[in-house]
Amino acid sequence: MKILVTDQVGTEHELEGLEGWRVMEVIRDWGLNIKAECGGALSCATCHVYVDKSWLDVVGAPSDEEEDMLDSVGDVRSNSRLSCQLLMSDALDGLKLTLAPSAA
Ligand code: FES
Repeated sequence: MKILVTDQVGTEHELEGLEGWRVMEVIRDWGLNIKAECGGALSCATCHVYVDKSWLDVVGAPSDEEEDMLDSVGDVRSNSRLSCQLLMSDALDGLKLTLAPSAA
């Protein structure tokens, strides 16, 4: 399954990932510019992405804990999510997102 990721300079990448991987792990392991400092423990917000608006309903709303972490970054938008909280699945095959400046 694949995700389409636009990086901080506007280049789009098609990345292959496996079911159950965190979206953050796919982005990181393909070498894109994402710090993901806490490794997915929901304590850094440096895996911040903007989910394409057409995918928001599929992805669903963030948890309260995720929202609290997002409050700590300055470039948050209504479609902000932490990519370590999104798991690869058939439902998310083709997911489009953009890396936030604060992920770099
Ligand atoms: Fe730290 Fe996602 S990697 S919150």
